[in-house]
Amino acid sequence: MTRPAFLAAFAVATALGTAALAQTQPYAPGAHNIALPADWQARFIRYTTVDRPDRKIIRNMYVNPEAFAALQAGQPLPYGTLAVMADQRARVDAAGEVLRDGNGRLIPEPAFIAIAAQQKERGWGEGYGPDQRNGEWEYAVFDPRTGARAERPLNACFTCHLQARAQQDFSFSTWDYANRSR
Ligand code: HEC
Repeated sequence: MTRPAFLAAFAVATALGTAALAQTQPYAPGAHNIALPADWQARFIRYTTVDRPDRKIIRNMYVNPEAFAALQAGQPLPYGTLAVMADQRARVDAAGEVLRDGNGRLIPEPAFIAIAAQQKERGWGEGYGPDQRNGEWEYAVFDPRTGARAERPLNACFTCHLQARAQQDFSFSTWDYANRSR
């Protein structure tokens, strides 16, 4: 082998080795598995908004377009689903009562005050106990200003979604959207 040919072969072998290493990185349970893509606000589909007058917030529900296109009634949500719930404060009057627009909907203040996410990937969920495991889903919360993942206990996310929605692939609004009558 000539020296350049040897170097080229070496470079290819190294690249393949690095790729193989990245692929065999073992899954470990935890929020670190979920990242909020930098362009999520521009790219994700806002499929519904939920008014929560009880908490004086509006919840904007987004999902990545690949999963949105693959949603099917009666089916588990597709692998690769990343649902993002971004909350806004509702406008209130001087007495602190929520204001409503002409359609009776709450009126959002511009900024997001909380961002929560759930993501489903093949093989995820391994390592959680039966009282916590949500199929192949992971949960995470993000700083609403920076989009950086926030360190927070997530037990309640698993418990509530498990108890209320085990038969709906642990999903609330995404499942309901996929199964609504059209
Ligand atoms: C007490 C029950 C409860 C807890 C705890 C909870 N959720 Fe939810 N979650 C809901 C409900 C109910 C909805 C639907 C929206 C609504 O009605 O507010 C929802 C919706 C969502 C959604 C939007 C997608 C969907 O299925 O509607 C995401 C993402 C989400 N939750 C993530 C989280 C994360 C992350 C945590 C923990 C930090 C968490 N949830 C804790 C009940 C809960």
